[in-house]
Amino acid sequence: MRNATVLLDRDFTIGQTDPRLFGAFIEHLGRCVYGGIFEPGHSTADAKGFRQDVMELVRELAPTIMRYPGGNFVSGYNWEDGVGPVADRPARLDYAWFSTEPNSFGTNEFIDWCREAGIEPMLAVNLGTRGPQDAGYFVEYCNHPGGTHYSELRRKHGWDKPHDVKFWCLGNEMDGPWQTCARTADEYGRVAQEAAKIMKWVDKTIELAACGSSGRKMPTFGMWEDRVLDHTFNEVEWISLHTYLNNYADDTPAFLASPDLMDSFIEEVVAIADAVAARKRSSKRIMLSFDEWNVWYRTRRPRESRVIPGWPVAPPILEEIYNMQDALAFGGAVIALLNHADRVRCACLAQLVNVIGPIMTETGGAAWRQTIFWPFKHFTNFGHGAVLRTKIVCDTYDTEYFDPAGMDDEYRTPMKDVPYLKLCAVHNDEGGLTLFALNRDLNGPMQLDVEARSFDGLSLIEATTMHDDDLKAVNSKAAPSRITPQALEGVSLNGSHICAVLPAASWTVLRFGRT
Ligand code: AHR
Repeated sequence: MRNATVLLDRDFTIGQTDPRLFGAFIEHLGRCVYGGIFEPGHSTADAKGFRQDVMELVRELAPTIMRYPGGNFVSGYNWEDGVGPVADRPARLDYAWFSTEPNSFGTNEFIDWCREAGIEPMLAVNLGTRGPQDAGYFVEYCNHPGGTHYSELRRKHGWDKPHDVKFWCLGNEMDGPWQTCARTADEYGRVAQEAAKIMKWVDKTIELAACGSSGRKMPTFGMWEDRVLDHTFNEVEWISLHTYLNNYADDTPAFLASPDLMDSFIEEVVAIADAVAARKRSSKRIMLSFDEWNVWYRTRRPRESRVIPGWPVAPPILEEIYNMQDALAFGGAVIALLNHADRVRCACLAQLVNVIGPIMTETGGAAWRQTIFWPFKHFTNFGHGAVLRTKIVCDTYDTEYFDPAGMDDEYRTPMKDVPYLKLCAVHNDEGGLTLFALNRDLNGPMQLDVEARSFDGLSLIEATTMHDDDLKAVNSKAAPSRITPQALEGVSLNGSHICAVLPAASWTVLRFGRT
């Protein structure tokens, strides 16, 4: 059995988690909205058409903030199409996903859904086919109290009070050639800066996120962030990051190592943002919004092979069925985010329902939890607090991660000295301690010894683990609980010393309170 030792101290913190770290994402894409959160006529739908079986699962999942309406979709979206009397709303071709957008769900329905779910809304403006003026009008429609064209339009539509949306994204993945009206870094930087100025003139209380490059493997990565922040530094608070982990190569050790590349990506973006700050002689720190992250590969297609004949409404696309090992890699991503809580202060799991989602539904039928539901629920329910620095000593391995997204000539990333244990420790607001642990050893259990300095008087609240001999096992409508967390027996506490045996290839959450 491998051993891992961990040393932590209550006083040595990385940072306090921001509530917005625990967000998710709803895009007009496939069955995320239609047949996902919204399905008038479904047996559980309320008067607004919101599926209550999905709502219950969302409440259990407890995301704190929700990004909307895209994603690639936003770069061709006219927000005006989705407001006002439903019968008058136009159906439009959605260039991003080759679908027809009926617009029967729009901004006001989204805000209502968020309020019902107890989630903060986050909106994105279209900086693809549209620009600064429309972005300003959108903020006016949502946030201005009244007495102007767009604020009165909102009131006429039945929403008297402003929506008061605080977090806005300046477009989406604007460096991606697949984006409707992609831009160069300087083109985007300038348009984002001008949009930001207008948006903040309309409402100075909002916060803005500039698009980072759409992945670490993009040829533009690095230079893109530098140029974009050079233009927008004074106007924005945030820069975005996106990562989708994959197991195309069917290489589990590499797949489970891949969350470590999120650590590198975050640290690189922090370095670039701070270099821009240094160049500007500024003490301002741009925060990171990891506003798309997940595992996604089986249903991922280049744009040219995404074409669906007939432009259907809400086609069942990107419906990734997650297995046991996806939940493990996903858990690794959770740890990477938490361990950078000082700078990653916002993040959105992409996405929420059906489309690469932790929740699956049948249109007209049932809803159930995918395997990744569990590590996300652990993250949102138990991840809030002060993230602690940890010193981890354990065996390591070398691997090579295959990622066909991005640079053609660098599909393979060699990874050296990957620790078998990936772990995060959170000192929660109740004074307790939560450990999130990924054992990446596929071949055997791991003896975990944690010295939790200055944490005397802990008592075990709960120890759960996710592990299955079949790493390809999935949840389904017929077997919705095939993969669920199980109690982990044998956790011992001696003063501030914690011992546990983590099963091979497992995701474990150990929760301690203070007595
Ligand atoms: O989340 C699915 C898609 O992935 C989003 O629309 C886009 O931003 C990213 O490429």
